[in-house]
Amino acid sequence: MKNQTGYISMKPGTLLSPTAVVMASCADGDHRPNIITLAWVGTVNSDPPMVSVSVRPERHSHGLIAASGEFVVNLVSRELMRACDLCGVKSGREMDKFAHLNLRPLPVAGSPAYLACKLRHSLELGSHTMFLGEIVGMGIREDLLNADGRIDLARADLVAYCHGEYMGLGPVEGFFGYSVARPEVLRRRMKRK
Ligand SMILES: Cc1cc2nc3c(=O)[nH]c(=O)nc-3n(C[C@H](O)[C@H](O)[C@H](O)COP(=O)(O)O)c2cc1C
Repeated sequence: MKNQTGYISMKPGTLLSPTAVVMASCADGDHRPNIITLAWVGTVNSDPPMVSVSVRPERHSHGLIAASGEFVVNLVSRELMRACDLCGVKSGREMDKFAHLNLRPLPVAGSPAYLACKLRHSLELGSHTMFLGEIVGMGIREDLLNADGRIDLARADLVAYCHGEYMGLGPVEGFFGYSVARPEVLRRRMKRK
């Protein structure tokens, strides 16, 4: 049934899309690592750089992050997508996900980039605890740097999460400010892709 805006009105839900999907690694007091797939994540501050990850209290990783005050956010490429999905359906309580997937921990080997975070705030929102982490370390795979040292994530083959499905990103269609860029800047920036 259409509402007066012309849209079909639905029960409110978490439809914001696409979101990033990441693999967050964490560890217990004996340095035993665990890894969890998360889609409820976001950039929340630039200075200091901060990210949010929302984790349900029943997840094994929840206790590890809360107790250690640390986690590492690993970006996910198409190559890591299967491992990412598995880390999102199996708990560290039932298996050593790093050993099972032959992944090297902290950061995850092969991930395009990692953000090492220190926990600064925890917000209990209802179903999830939002952990706000300050990014205190960051690493990028060497092949994702241009000759001039700039990060080129277009080459990372990242995947996004869209209403229950993983999706590839496709080609670069523009860049920050391209709608007002001078023609020569537009030509230079878009030619490089
Ligand atoms: C694509 C995807 C996204 C997910 N996003 C979240 C999330 O944002 N927060 C959360 O608590 N669980 C999320 N999950 C579920 C956890 O990853 C899953 O319950 C995992 O097995 C928990 O692992 P752990 O018990 O070792 O911490 C997601 C799972 C998938 C497959």
